[in-house]
Amino acid sequence: MQENIDPWGDVQAGDYDRKMEDFGIDPMEPLVDRLPKPHKLFRRDIVYGHRDFGRILNAVENGSPFAMMTGLMPSGQFHFGHKMVADQIIYHQELGAEVYVAVADIESYLTRDMPLEEAREFAVEQYLTNYIALGLEPENVNFYFQSEGSTNYHTMSKLFARNVTQNEVEAVYGDVDPEKLTSALTQVADILQPQFEERGGPKPVVVPVGTDQDPHIRLARDIASRFSGQDFAKPASTYHKFMRGLQGGKMSSSDPNSYIALTDDPEEACEKIDRAKTGGKQSREAQRKHGADIEEDVVFELLAFHLIDDDERLREIHRQYSEGEMLSGELKEIAKEEMRSFLREHQERREEAHERMQEFLARS
Ligand code: TRP
Repeated sequence: MQENIDPWGDVQAGDYDRKMEDFGIDPMEPLVDRLPKPHKLFRRDIVYGHRDFGRILNAVENGSPFAMMTGLMPSGQFHFGHKMVADQIIYHQELGAEVYVAVADIESYLTRDMPLEEAREFAVEQYLTNYIALGLEPENVNFYFQSEGSTNYHTMSKLFARNVTQNEVEAVYGDVDPEKLTSALTQVADILQPQFEERGGPKPVVVPVGTDQDPHIRLARDIASRFSGQDFAKPASTYHKFMRGLQGGKMSSSDPNSYIALTDDPEEACEKIDRAKTGGKQSREAQRKHGADIEEDVVFELLAFHLIDDDERLREIHRQYSEGEMLSGELKEIAKEEMRSFLREHQERREEAHERMQEFLARS
């Protein structure tokens, strides 16, 4: 039976093939070669699926305007799970996208009881600072808070209600309460905003998200095709896999042992790597003989998702580790060394990022 996705439920990793089939998400793999200098998240099938991403590639190839839009619900510390979206935002900016990033403070107020002011502080101190330190440039970036969107943005978020039926809302979200419905329609306004008339009208827009956000994408695409006040192109989307927590299981903002934050002290981060779950065998002998089960290894995941850019090097580590030439302890040493130098450099860049904050906030 088809299982619904709950965008406000627990984030589940896994079974991506089935999700693609159930929800009509297309595989990314056939399109990757069309990307100029594909980012490692695309090369490694971590961004595994899409809807209509071909339209974005056409725009990139023709040099015509396109936008990338995504949003964040501020919660807790900015960790390597969050970095995946940041990397994609920056990559799309490099491809020439106009960038829209919504801080979902209305959503976190409605669904997580977070005061607007607190959401704002988190978003700036945790998310924006890290985005800038990771390489986001202020040109062409619209970073805004839902609670401070334009009049037209708020008007549209209400007008869209006419283009959805009760049946659909129930099919997409299951049980909906007023908070969720308001959050969903606000998010549709986020997603369609780059195409508003005052923003230049219809254009290709891609929304990079985790699979849990797909219900919102489907709703936005339906509303785009039905709204009669102006024309919209159906927004495109890409879907990334989730990183697992360091102990296996879920990566969760409420459990600091499940993640490494980009502000963690490098030595503390290394201790978390020491305690992380691996796919290595119990004994040295068994590991030498049978090799590691890499699918089960969250340390390898850190290397593949974040710490090693060079495909050749990663492939060689994969080979040695899966054939038993390399032990888990050795894999962890590689990860710790990469992590240390990444965090040191990143944390220096965060200092500079603080000074550049106003360039971004002035524009919203
Ligand atoms: N609902 C998203 C989350 O839970 C945040 C969000 C708000 C969003 N507006 C968006 C995501 C627009 C993508 C596009 O994280």
